[in-house]
Amino acid sequence: MAAKGAKLAIDGGSPIREKPLRPGFWGSEFYDEKERVELLDVLEAKSPFRWYGPKTPMKALKFEQEFAARMQTRFALAVTSGTAALQCAVAALEIGPGDEVILPAWTWHSCFNAVVLAGGLPVCAEIDTSFTIDPEDIEHRITPHTKAIMAVHLQGNPCDMDRILAIARKHNLRVIEDCAQSVGASYKGKPVGSMGDIGIYSLQLNKTITAGEGGAVTTNNPELFERASRFHDLGGFRAPHQNAVGKQQLDWFFGANYRMSEFTGGVMLAQVRKLDRIISSVRGNAKQVYAGVRDLPGARLRHLPDPEGELGSGVFLDFGTKERRERFLTAMKAENVAASRPGGSVILPTLPHVIAKKTIHPNWPSFQTERGKAIRYGADTCPRTIDILDRFGGVLMDPRFTRRDAEDIAAAIRKVYPAVMS
Ligand SMILES: Cc1ncc(COP(=O)(O)O)c(C=O)c1O
Repeated sequence: MAAKGAKLAIDGGSPIREKPLRPGFWGSEFYDEKERVELLDVLEAKSPFRWYGPKTPMKALKFEQEFAARMQTRFALAVTSGTAALQCAVAALEIGPGDEVILPAWTWHSCFNAVVLAGGLPVCAEIDTSFTIDPEDIEHRITPHTKAIMAVHLQGNPCDMDRILAIARKHNLRVIEDCAQSVGASYKGKPVGSMGDIGIYSLQLNKTITAGEGGAVTTNNPELFERASRFHDLGGFRAPHQNAVGKQQLDWFFGANYRMSEFTGGVMLAQVRKLDRIISSVRGNAKQVYAGVRDLPGARLRHLPDPEGELGSGVFLDFGTKERRERFLTAMKAENVAASRPGGSVILPTLPHVIAKKTIHPNWPSFQTERGKAIRYGADTCPRTIDILDRFGGVLMDPRFTRRDAEDIAAAIRKVYPAVMS
C-alpha cells in the first residue's frame, strides 16, 4: 500500500501498478464447456426455433423456468433484448396514448423510447446520490394521467424500493422495475424485478450474464404475463406459456415478434446457472475496496439503499466539484488504475432529439395532447441530476479482479483522493 502522502504518479511519483488495470466484460468471460454444450445441442438437434422443430426445443423454455426461479417470480418471459422486454412490460400494463410514466432523468434510451413507442408520455424525475430515481422527486411529478413509475436499478444499485412502492400504492400506480444494469442484485433480500408489478432485464454484452443480446420479463401476475407473452409473439399465446398460467384470460391483439432463439436460450441457460458465482466475485472485490476507502477523512460514497444487495459494479465517491472529479480521473490513470464517471446511461432531458420530441411520425400520439405539447425537456429540468453526475467518480469492478487488484484499487484511491480534495 502506498505510504501516506506518497508522490502521485501524475507528479512524477511511482504508480501504484506497473501495468494498467481495467475492468472488462462479465458473463462472457465465464463462457466455457457449459455454453458450448448448450449451443451444440441446438445445432445437433437442428432445432433453433423455440416453438417447434425436428426435435422438441426446450432451451428458451428452460431458461425461463430457471430465470423465474432465481428471480423468485411466478413467470419469466425470454425475449430478444432489454429494450424489447421494456416494450413488453409497457404493453402488459396497457400503457398507451394519454398515459404518463415517471422515469429517472439518467437512464438508458430504451426506457424513454418504450413509453413513446407505445404512444405514452415519459416524465423525467431527478436522481439522487444513489444514481437512481429520487423518491422525493416522484410525487410532485404525478398528474391525473400518471399510470406507472419506472424504477431503474442503475449501475448495479437497487433503487429505494420501500419508498417507491409506498408512493405507488398511495397513488394507485403500477411499478416497472428495470433491472437491465443490475441482473441478480437484490433489495432487502428480494431479487430486483420481483417487487414491482413487472420486471425487465437485459442480457446484452455489458450486463451481468449475456448471450450478446437478449432480454427477459418477470412478473407474479398471470394476466400481465399473458399480455407480455402475447405482445412478444404477434398477439398469440403458445401452449407452453398457456400451461404456465393454467387458464388464458385474453384474446389476440396486435403484437410484435421478440421471440428468443434456442441458441440464445441455450447460452442463457448456462449463464443463469453461473449468475451467483459471478455476483459473489464482483461483490467480494467491491467489498474489499469499500473497506479500504471507507475511513478516508471526509469521503462521501455513492448512496446504497441496500449495501448487501447491490452488485458492487463500481465504487463511486463524491468529489464535490467537476474539476476535482476530473483531476481524480487523470491522477488515477497515471497510477495505472482506470477510473470513470458514472456511466452506462444518458441524461435523457438533455438529448437534442428528446428536447425536440422527435417521433417517427409528426402526429405521433405522445406529444399531441395538451399535456404532451406543454411538457418540456432540457438541462434546466434536471439540474440536480447533472450536478450529481458531474461530481462523482469511481472505479468499476470486474468479477475477475484478484484480491491484489482490489488492494491496488483501494491503495490508488487512498493515495489520490486526499491530494485531489486538498
Ligand atoms: C437501464 C436499461 N434499460 C434497458 C436497456 C436495454 O437493454 P438492451 O440493450 O438489451 O436492449 C439497457 C441497456 O443498456 C439499460 O441500461
